[in-house]
Formats: sequence, C-alpha cells, structure tokens
Amino acid sequence: MKICNSKILKNEQVIDNIYRLIIEFNFDKILPGQFFMLKTLNNEFLLPRPISVNDCDNNSVAFLYRIEGHGTKTISKLIEGTEIQALGPIGNGFELDKIQGKVAIIGGGIGTAPLLYLAKKLSSKADIYLGFRDITYGIDEFKKYSNKLSVATEDGSVGQKGFVTSLVNFDEYDCVVTCGPEVMMNAVMDACERSKAKDSSRNITCLVSLEKRMACGVGACLGCVVETKAGMKRACKDGPVFNASELVR
Ligand SMILES: Cc1cc2nc3c(=O)[nH]c(=O)nc-3n(C[C@H](O)[C@H](O)[C@H](O)COP(=O)(O)OP(=O)(O)OC[C@H]3O[C@@H](n4cnc5c(N)ncnc54)[C@H](O)[C@@H]3O)c2cc1C
Ligand code: FES
Repeated sequence: MKICNSKILKNEQVIDNIYRLIIEFNFDKILPGQFFMLKTLNNEFLLPRPISVNDCDNNSVAFLYRIEGHGTKTISKLIEGTEIQALGPIGNGFELDKIQGKVAIIGGGIGTAPLLYLAKKLSSKADIYLGFRDITYGIDEFKKYSNKLSVATEDGSVGQKGFVTSLVNFDEYDCVVTCGPEVMMNAVMDACERSKAKDSSRNITCLVSLEKRMACGVGACLGCVVETKAGMKRACKDGPVFNASELVR
C-alpha cells in the first residue's frame, strides 16, 4: 500500500451517473477485490472515499464509480492531467487459489465494478451473471473475460426481466463470488446455503465483497466492523472479501 498524488489519465462519464476514472499508479501487485481511498487535493471533502479496482496494468489503475453524494460528485469533476490523492491498494482482495472448480461471478449494479478485474484474472474460467435495475454498463468489458455471460434487469430493458439471482442454478457451482446491494448478496448467500443443504457432501464456497461505510480505510477507526463467527472484523483491513460461512447474519 502506498499513498501518492496520482495523475488523472481519464475521468469520463460512462452513462448517466456512472463514471470511469483512470489514474497513473505503479505498484507491483494489485489483487482483484482490493480498493483505494480517493480524495481530492483541495480538501473539498474531509474523508477519502473507498473505490474498488475495476482494472489495472503496470502503470495505471481504473475505477468505475457511481455518483452518490458530495465526494463522488466532486471526484467526477476532476479533469484529465490534474492529480488526485490515492491510498492503496487496500484490503485482502480475492485469493485466486481459493476460487476453484466451477465458478459463478454474480454482480449487481455498481457492485459489478470490482468483479471485472477478478473475471480478467480468472482468465474466462467463470460464468458471469450481472444484474441491474434499469441502466446497464460495463457488460461489453465482461464479455472479454467469459464464455458464459447472462444479464438481468429489473425493468426487462436488457437481458432477462427480474433479479439476477433467478438466472443462476446454484447447484452447478463449486464457488460463487458476489458483490452488489446487500439484499442481493443476502439472496446469493441464502441460495448457496440451500444448495449445500440439499447435498451435505457438496462443498460450495461463497465469497462476498462487503461494502461498509469507511472513514480511515486502514484498520484504525473501527468504523467498518463486521460481525463474524471469530469476532468483530474490519471490512477495510480484514476484508472487504469474506467467506459467507464466516459471517454472522
Ligand atoms: C470497499 C468498498 C469499495 C467500493 N467500491 C466502489 C466502486 O468501485 N464504485 C462505486 O461507485 N462505489 C464504491 N463504493 C461505495 C463508495 O465508497 C460510496 O458510494 C462513496 O463513498 C459515497 O461517497 P459520497 O461522498 O459520494 O456520498 P455520501 O454523501 O457519503 O453518501 C451518499 C449516499 O451513499 C450512501 N453510502 C455512502 N458510502 C457508502 C458505502 N460504503 N456503502 C453503501 N452506501 C454508502 C450514504 O449512506 C448516502 O445515502 C465502495 C465502498 C467500499 C466500502
Ligand atoms: S474504515 Fe477505519 S477501521 Fe475500517
């Protein structure tokens, strides 16, 4: 992890309130599921905002973000060539050696952002399921990294009408990875448990990337704690990726 003022190579609107930011950043190894704390240099907002790595190469990191409030709105106005303060990569990320067998990646809305780099790292070995309320984004990027990609929208404008979880036959998979709205991740964890309950000899791993409000991002403030069977853990330092079986729900 390092902190630096990084040059903005691109910061453009993808669609509606969804933006893509690319910054100059050199770091040896960034794992999918890790994130950065981003802050403008003029201190227009006090606390940095956590945003996941959407993609990266040796010299740059890309983020896909949705304008939610003051922080992300301010970031969206930064122009190419100026600098942003970046602290990262942070968090445990996805351990690729734990993602074995037949894999499903299930993303919802802006929760699809960290899953693109994961799909890339898994080199097309995962089936990908993406869910959106209405407006869709990033689907073409995912197509590069999957042989099977299915989309659901709640309004039926793209793909199948309904929730993304209804597209998945959980009994088919050995490992399910998910990030998205809490209600969607709960539905995914429930479905994995039901699938396991049908056949006790079956081992299905369910990995979830949690989104908690964060202040420091480095494990110091305890603002992001999550209740686990082994006690309270910090989403920023011990997570944001957890095995669903660890969580107290
Ligand atoms: C580990 C991690 C990775 C993330 N990755 C991404 C990403 O790749 N792309 C992206 O667009 N967003 C991501 N987020 C969410 C992003 O950090 C928040 O949307 C952002 O901090 C909101 O700041 P704001 O000042 O724009 O809005 P605020 O004014 O702070 O809040 C606006 C609204 O968003 C809600 N909100 C703020 N932060 C969060 C949060 N962490 N989780 C849920 N609701 C929140 C608030 O309750 C409020 O309703 C991530 C969050 C975490 C913890
Ligand atoms: S945000 Fe401070 S401990 Fe996690």
